Amino acid sequence: MKLYGAIVSADNSKLKTQTSIMTISGTQLAKEIKENVKGKVAEAIKEFGRPPHLVVILVGEDPASQSYVKGKGKDAEEVGFKSTTIRKPDTISEKELLNLIHELNADEDVDGILVQLPLPKHIDEDKVIETIDKSKDVDGFHPANVAALWQKRPCIYPCTPKGIIKLLDKAGVEIEGKKAVVIGRSNIVGLPVSKLLLDRNATVTIAHSRSLNLPEVTSHADILVVAIGRPKFVTADMVKPGAAVIDVGVNRDPDSGKLCGDVDFDSCAEIASVITPVPGGVGPMTRACLMENTLECFLNKMHQQQK
Ligand code: GUN
Repeated sequence: MKLYGAIVSADNSKLKTQTSIMTISGTQLAKEIKENVKGKVAEAIKEFGRPPHLVVILVGEDPASQSYVKGKGKDAEEVGFKSTTIRKPDTISEKELLNLIHELNADEDVDGILVQLPLPKHIDEDKVIETIDKSKDVDGFHPANVAALWQKRPCIYPCTPKGIIKLLDKAGVEIEGKKAVVIGRSNIVGLPVSKLLLDRNATVTIAHSRSLNLPEVTSHADILVVAIGRPKFVTADMVKPGAAVIDVGVNRDPDSGKLCGDVDFDSCAEIASVITPVPGGVGPMTRACLMENTLECFLNKMHQQQK
């Protein structure tokens, strides 16, 4: 937690405020989650004779997607899954991609299917997501899963929103009764994380990068989640003192070329009580939750077969 303390300088003439920020390490928590999954994979192999199998499909050569997919494969191997990455050129037709998904749906040896987004413009993403068998939908993007989430029925929690809630819990941030502002309304992060915060009895405002009087809105937030993909969009004047700030953005800083988030970390860290870094915050948590979801899909299938 951030500690506010007045320090009297040696000559007693000036008062300074010293702050120590709590940066929430997604890397550390993700490691703990993956250790736990790894233990359960060892048990699953004893009970069912094989580990879970995750198949990730990458279409095209977008560098960011390539890097995300590589990370997912690495984590899958680390926890003891069978991991397959299928790379297809961006000239693949929609029909070919859908056929590939049908084959994987029918393959008894495959437990989780993830198609890395975004897809090239000529492929209808909604059709692709709908085609993945919902029992193998480790992303939690299938419309039946989304409906279940919004209706509070059993479902697979989408990886990034699930990871954000785990980070808040780990940092000891109270969610119930708090004001949460989510900047971003995507199906992948903004909307589902808002729902998860609402389910934990926060009062949630969903905003976007062009929301009117955004700094006025965000400066009331006890919990601020930012997922818009704009480098350093959130500045210190937009953050309530003592807020928990969760940065989902992964961008290139136009000045330095380095990776940066949607939040101007250095200035906002002075104001926030807890804040996630980029890299090393939400990103590793998304992958750790993907490992949990894959294990969950596998175990659901195995228990179903035992009935
Ligand atoms: N692209 C960016 N985030 C994600 C994700 O969580 N899942 C998939 N499939 N694609 C993404």
